[in-house]
Amino acid sequence: MMSNTIRIAPSLLSADFARLGEEVRAVIAAGADRSHFDVMGNRCVPNLTVGPLVCQASKPHSSVPIDVHLMVKPVDALIPMFAQAGAGIISFHPEASEHVDRSIQLIKSLGVKAGLVLNPATPLHVLDHVIEQLDLVLLMSVNPGFGGQSFIESTLPKLEKARRLVDTAMKNTGREIWLEVDGGVKRDNARRVAEAGADTMVAGSAVITGARNTAAYAEAIAGIRDEALAGQQRLALETA
Ligand code: DX5
Ligand code: ZN
Repeated sequence: MMSNTIRIAPSLLSADFARLGEEVRAVIAAGADRSHFDVMGNRCVPNLTVGPLVCQASKPHSSVPIDVHLMVKPVDALIPMFAQAGAGIISFHPEASEHVDRSIQLIKSLGVKAGLVLNPATPLHVLDHVIEQLDLVLLMSVNPGFGGQSFIESTLPKLEKARRLVDTAMKNTGREIWLEVDGGVKRDNARRVAEAGADTMVAGSAVITGARNTAAYAEAIAGIRDEALAGQQRLALETA
């Protein structure tokens, strides 16, 4: 049941925010399947980034869905603002909502795809009663707050279990549910990340770095995608 494709979502946290529109256009021209928009509120993560206004400013430059990752608490008041600002997907952390089911319903009522984000220490059982309502399960492979951190290896066995949960939920609902990994994804670990079951990968500092131009971003995205596709094919063979 696993989707047989790989989606790459460059995290704009690594972008030059003085040229955000240009950077969004460049990563999309370089092959990004969506832009990953990290919203941090300095309460549930030790950082403060951008809000709906900046998401709205990026929208005209974004011909692919904006994948909004809310690291704020509480989330419910901000969900409609990001829907209004053009988010295609809104993901939130269960620890940031008093009523996770209600927050998921709120996102979907606004015509936006809904995702739940699990920190490295958040157990998979938070998915138990809601996974079949989700469009996206996002596993953090770093502790949220910053780009450029190292991939947490214990994500891989957790990802294998999440893959099985997502496949069962897709079979029960007949709907596609993406399984995304976020944090420390690089060309040299993308194959293992895909082999463990991720079909969508956030990559910030592995893509938006060095020579900040479309050609450099394209080379980075292609390298990650090639590795990930090889890992996904290996997984398909193992599970055939
Ligand atoms: C961290 C963010 C991630 C981060 C990814 O809290 O949610 O999306 O920006 O950046 P890299 O790929 O550099 O770890
Ligand atoms: Zn993120």
